[in-house]
Amino acid sequence: MSELDSLYREVILDHYKNPRGHGLIDTPDAEAEGQNPLCGDEVSIAVAFEGDTIADVKFQGRGCAISQAATSMLMDMVKGRTAQEVATMSREELLDEVGIPLTPVRLKCALLGLGVLKLALHKGRGTPLPEEWAGVDELELR
Ligand code: FES
Repeated sequence: MSELDSLYREVILDHYKNPRGHGLIDTPDAEAEGQNPLCGDEVSIAVAFEGDTIADVKFQGRGCAISQAATSMLMDMVKGRTAQEVATMSREELLDEVGIPLTPVRLKCALLGLGVLKLALHKGRGTPLPEEWAGVDELELR
């Protein structure tokens, strides 16, 4: 493992152990949840808006280190952005943050939170939910 890889792994582990934005929002403007059917792991996300800007975003979930850490990273990344900006945010932007190469199975883990967030924004602000995200690689979102 390269030094950089082990650094990324440390960051992932830190997010997993000390998730940012973990918890509930009392009166959220939008919510969604999703499951990775391969393992049953779950993420739910609540959003509070100020206008179209994401003023607060929180998640709850259970699952592997990658799914929970990637969602934790996502919470940090999207606060203060508009619903439209996040609706068009690419998978690569989050995967760059995760930083380590992922197998196709692990990719589903890493993208679970982003798919759930995009669905929440779609429900709350009517942002487009491209076909690919409606069933994010067979993730079950609702
Ligand atoms: Fe379930 Fe990663 S093993 S989300």
